[in-house]
Amino acid sequence: MSDVTRPTTGRPAPSVGTPINRVDGRLKVTGGARYAAEFAVPNVAYAVMVTSTIASGRVRTMDATDAARAPGVLAVLTPENAPKLPNPPRPRTQASPAVGGPTQGGGQQPGGEQRQGAGRSQGTPPSGPAMRVPTLMQDDLVYYNGQPIGLVIADTFEHAMAAAALVKVTYAEERPVLDIESTPLAPANAVRPVGAGGKATKHGDVERGLAEAEVKVEQTYTTPLENHNPLEPHNTMAMWDGDKVTLYDSTQGIFSVRSGIARAFAIPPENVRVVSYFTGGGFGSKGGPWSHVYLAAMAAKHLSRPVKLVVTRRQMFGPTGGRAATSQRVTLGAKKDGTLTAVRHHTVATTSMLEDFVESCGVATRMLYESPNIETDHDLKRLNVGSPTFMRAPGEATGTFALESAMDELAVALRMDPIELRLKNYAEKDPDSGKPWSSKSLRECYRAGAEKFGWSKRTPAPRSMSDGRWLIGYGMATATYPARQQAASCTARILPDGRALVRAGSQEIGCGTYTVMSQIAADALGLPVDRVRFELGDTDMPPTPGSVGSATASSTGPAVNAAALAARQKLVQLAVADAASPLHGAREDDVRTADGKLSLGSDPSKSETFEALIARNGGQPVEARVDLKPGPDQQAYSMHSFGAVFSEVRVDRDLGLIRVPRVVGAYGGGKILNVKTATSQMISGIVWGISQALLEETHIDPRTGRYVNADLAEYHVPVNADIGSIDVTFVEENDPHVNPIGVKGVGEIPIVGVAASIGNAIYHATGKRVRDLPITLDKLL
Ligand code: MOS
Repeated sequence: MSDVTRPTTGRPAPSVGTPINRVDGRLKVTGGARYAAEFAVPNVAYAVMVTSTIASGRVRTMDATDAARAPGVLAVLTPENAPKLPNPPRPRTQASPAVGGPTQGGGQQPGGEQRQGAGRSQGTPPSGPAMRVPTLMQDDLVYYNGQPIGLVIADTFEHAMAAAALVKVTYAEERPVLDIESTPLAPANAVRPVGAGGKATKHGDVERGLAEAEVKVEQTYTTPLENHNPLEPHNTMAMWDGDKVTLYDSTQGIFSVRSGIARAFAIPPENVRVVSYFTGGGFGSKGGPWSHVYLAAMAAKHLSRPVKLVVTRRQMFGPTGGRAATSQRVTLGAKKDGTLTAVRHHTVATTSMLEDFVESCGVATRMLYESPNIETDHDLKRLNVGSPTFMRAPGEATGTFALESAMDELAVALRMDPIELRLKNYAEKDPDSGKPWSSKSLRECYRAGAEKFGWSKRTPAPRSMSDGRWLIGYGMATATYPARQQAASCTARILPDGRALVRAGSQEIGCGTYTVMSQIAADALGLPVDRVRFELGDTDMPPTPGSVGSATASSTGPAVNAAALAARQKLVQLAVADAASPLHGAREDDVRTADGKLSLGSDPSKSETFEALIARNGGQPVEARVDLKPGPDQQAYSMHSFGAVFSEVRVDRDLGLIRVPRVVGAYGGGKILNVKTATSQMISGIVWGISQALLEETHIDPRTGRYVNADLAEYHVPVNADIGSIDVTFVEENDPHVNPIGVKGVGEIPIVGVAASIGNAIYHATGKRVRDLPITLDKLL
């Protein structure tokens, strides 16, 4: 583990705010960064999942005779012979996928006794990424096409793959629920959106607000199923030692994996060690353990041998989450001057038969614009598909497509500039909670973004701008995402050689966590960043939140800062108490630390190095640990990042081809720790927004539930040629409330608003409003 995070570049303090290169960049480009599947473990066996080819019913028989005899095969696990787990996560309902009636075999089959709770909550309700409901061969039920129903373990990956193809399965098949239109809503009590507030919120009276309105917009916006496609497939290696297990996992949440495995196998969390030094993208799909993690652990225990399980690209469609499809009814009412008299946003999102995950599209609508009358509501439809989960700005990415498209439609109806309309309804405090904002720079984002984009050159009428065969459109939208701080712990150790070692659990999912945490620690300690080594990715380290919900910089960052400051203070106390120190007897608050030296503010000639001080005082490291909890401001203020995103589109007037030559985004995200890594994150999120707008869609066969485009040839994501110029600006924002380091986090916000801004630009270019994502040329023609 010694080669993981040695910084390769650095500058004198202060480092925070400077765009240093990634400290792990060299490791990554030289192959030195080890991902979960790359750890060399002696005697490792390879597991491959067998997945269902029906979407609903039961496994009747699984004939593993040929597979078991195939070369190198060590075991074939099926619902019949798989080890029973003491406490497996339970599906929300153990009902047969065809909810309602009894199925063939009735209640006599395995799992039958649990099926009586059809359609209602049962067992432990899923409440977060750690509570994902995997399928672990504990019964014979099939909930979706592609569900793991078997596991082949062999001496090599190739042997396991070959043998997996030899497993013969017969099913008692039922008609799957796949048609969104005709599927009834799930019971209201199934719906618990993430984010502040519950299923529904209501302020004022929308009907009265609509009666007062002079202009109304009421439309339905739809977004499709999508699937995360991180470059690194989900993978796990599990090794048992008695009743202790170590997992190398590609994850956004090592502590979520630990708690999930501990619960399922009924062992104490401290018996589970999860290691993840690098994760090759997750985007929400690696927030907690899915089936493959438990199955790797199950197989390793069964064989008393380390087992590695790498999910195939195809198996990432279904067994590892995805984005729900949504249908969103948005109603806006306004006075002629643009004042919003009514806002209503009703979302119907899809979920699976396993759990009631809610794509919380209305959450942003609750707080984005001022109006006396605002209502939001969410409903679910349960389908025989893989469970949806968090996917980059879950709720906001989809919800703002609807809201911000509707706002554009309202601006058109009012003959008002879209920015003017938004400014007219600018929320000076949170309309939902009534709390003041911890900070909000959205006005400045509109101004800076519009200026950089050249919004003033826009002529309002549709089809009024063109360049030869290309119709040109300018569109804009607002972006927002919550700023969150959660409890996090960290240790900081100043070493006798004048370097520092700082540790916090956490994860590196590609955003630059090693880098920014090194910067925070360096500044707090008074060291150049290349003398700080920051380590993460091991549950033996202090606990932190998962790398989800834009919460890492704003949760783990303050903990790193606090631990480094605490270690620094111990060092200062050592100096002022040491008769041999030039700082002896000084006031603690007169001591400065910079560049590895302590000195007096009142007399800079009095100074010594960290090394000299520690050497005279026993030569032992000086260490501090901090367990940081969010402060009281978390309750007193409403905390969000905001932004404004502007898109130019070009649409071929005959062929409907859509190009996006440029996107400009301006964001207020609190303090930006490293403009280089933050800008990379923003660019990638905007690219994803372009993808959401124009390309991405998971197709399910309406008869069989089969994931039709389950690979990167058929599931379209942008290539370089699809992306033009992307210009990101951070407006200066000093937020004294959000957390002690003033960081809001910018992980999720860059995708928000992009799809609406492109849809709005397409309307401006063509005069055609497409309310169904992705906006493809057939919908324009
Ligand atoms: Mo984010 S969708 O919580 O990875």
